[in-house]
Amino acid sequence: MRPNPIAADLYVFGPVLRLLHWALALAILALVATSQLAEAFEHGPYEDAIWNLHILAGYGLAAVLALRVLWGVFGPASARWRDLWHPAVWKAALTTLRLPRSHRAGHDPLASLAYLFAYGVAALMVATGLVLAAAEFGAGPLSGWLGHARWAAGLFKEPHEAGFALMLGFVGLHLAALVFHHLRGERVAQRMLTDRRVPPADPLARQD
Ligand code: HEM
Repeated sequence: MRPNPIAADLYVFGPVLRLLHWALALAILALVATSQLAEAFEHGPYEDAIWNLHILAGYGLAAVLALRVLWGVFGPASARWRDLWHPAVWKAALTTLRLPRSHRAGHDPLASLAYLFAYGVAALMVATGLVLAAAEFGAGPLSGWLGHARWAAGLFKEPHEAGFALMLGFVGLHLAALVFHHLRGERVAQRMLTDRRVPPADPLARQD
């Protein structure tokens, strides 16, 4: 059996992946907060300033996403896209309707599907957000092409709002899953905080 390159190490994700994770969480928090504030102050003197902050946070999200894509190609084994790709586990969970009990050292194989979905939604948010910044505010890298284009604003607003709802859904599911694991005695959250993997209680637990 080939040794798992990550399993031997108690420190799993590494500082770069953890930094990108918290930068992603911060960018999403800022995007949610500024969008809600801008709507609360609609037609007020601060509305445009708050949307500008929202656009800035969107650039932050774009940068984090681009760095994560590169880290998934050039980073260590636990950060590679391969570590998020577990179609056999997804298929088994779907056919048996049972949660796999995994103690592998990298990403949780079932949760990885949700992470890939979240990155897809984040990419959708960035793409539609850049179009809206150009079409509604004449701002950003697409403004030369789509500056104040009403048709583009009309076309991309709904997908942007749908992406927002999907991302909130992911965040809710992600936090609920962390609480669920905690209640099952699996201290998963620690991995993104201190990076220290708590060894499974069962010494025969599968390392996948
Ligand atoms: C807006 C809030 C958050 C977002 C958008 C988010 C997003 C994500 C994403 C995309 C991943 C996959 C990371 C990767 O590329 O490797 C991930 C993994 C993870 N997140 Fe979060 N996260 C959020 C909040 C949190 C919080 C509050 C915690 C708890 C401390 C947490 C703990 C973790 C852990 C432990 C993993 C790895 C789980 C595993 O597969 O073993 N996250 N998160």
